[in-house]
Amino acid sequence: MPNNLKSPNDAAAQDEPILKVEGLVKRFGDTTVIKELSFEVQPGQVVVLVGPSGTGKSTFLRCVNGLEDIQGGKIIFEGEEVKARHSNITAIRRRIGMIFQNFNLYPHLTAVENVTLAPVKVLKESPESAKERAMELFRKVRLEHRATAYPGEMSGGEQQRVAIARALAMNPALMMFDEPTSALDPETVGDVLAVMEELAAEGRTMLVVTHEMAFADHVGDRMLFMDGGYVVEDGPPSELLNNPKNDRTRQFVNSVLKPEAAMKGTADSSEVPPNIAAR
Ligand SMILES: Nc1ncnc2c1ncn2[C@@H]1O[C@H](COP(=O)(O)OP(=O)(O)OP(=O)(O)O)[C@@H](O)[C@H]1O
Ligand SMILES: [Mg+2]
Repeated sequence: MPNNLKSPNDAAAQDEPILKVEGLVKRFGDTTVIKELSFEVQPGQVVVLVGPSGTGKSTFLRCVNGLEDIQGGKIIFEGEEVKARHSNITAIRRRIGMIFQNFNLYPHLTAVENVTLAPVKVLKESPESAKERAMELFRKVRLEHRATAYPGEMSGGEQQRVAIARALAMNPALMMFDEPTSALDPETVGDVLAVMEELAAEGRTMLVVTHEMAFADHVGDRMLFMDGGYVVEDGPPSELLNNPKNDRTRQFVNSVLKPEAAMKGTADSSEVPPNIAAR
């Protein structure tokens, strides 16, 4: 059987990976943040990246986007090698939607102007068709009533959904999310996660850094636990959450799921609590 058919992840696994990371090494000066990182993302997969603070999750996403030089290994996106400052990097970045913790909307532009800017300027779409498409996207993220609002007039959850609409307007092949709900008030987190869940159901390929374990469990096809510069564990989210093979994964999962218990050193690793298992 060919190697790529061995993956448990159904038909999508038969395609070429969208993203292939081979032995990535990333250093800042003398500090090696990523010592060895290898994995593949198949079209339509939702891969959740978790790990302690400072473990290199954001740095990794920046490497995929060609925003950082890398010191070893290779990143292949849609068959092309990603290299910072290489001439192909702008075209690669257009195919990758990036969602940040702090939305990064243009504050002086309305929601709809934020969403139409790149399609008009970069993809040379007509303003009319870009606006029509933006309104479709606002319906998708349930914000049609906020299209003419400025970011400063919107809640964090609304701003994040505008940011998602803005990324979708470029029709990216891969969507990367860096802790998209960490800066939100708890009551708006669910709206953003619901939109992300819909994107996943549509078959979008997504790489998501998050501490939202219920979302990871429910929506993720795979979870990667990064620590100490390596991927320590890679598997179905329910496996990592309920039955981690590695002690570090177990400690991390406990600290995220049961922060009070972990602080007291009384964490029980046996199971994901019911409130996490069902959203
Ligand atoms: N431009 C930079 N120059 C020097 N060191 C950096 C730079 N960017 C990140 N680092 C360091 O690299 C390490 C990884 O940082 P990174 O932000 O990728 O971690 P992270 O896993 O995203 O953490 P968090 O969960 O807190 O967001 C940290 O030690 C950080 O201080
Ligand atoms: Mg980060």
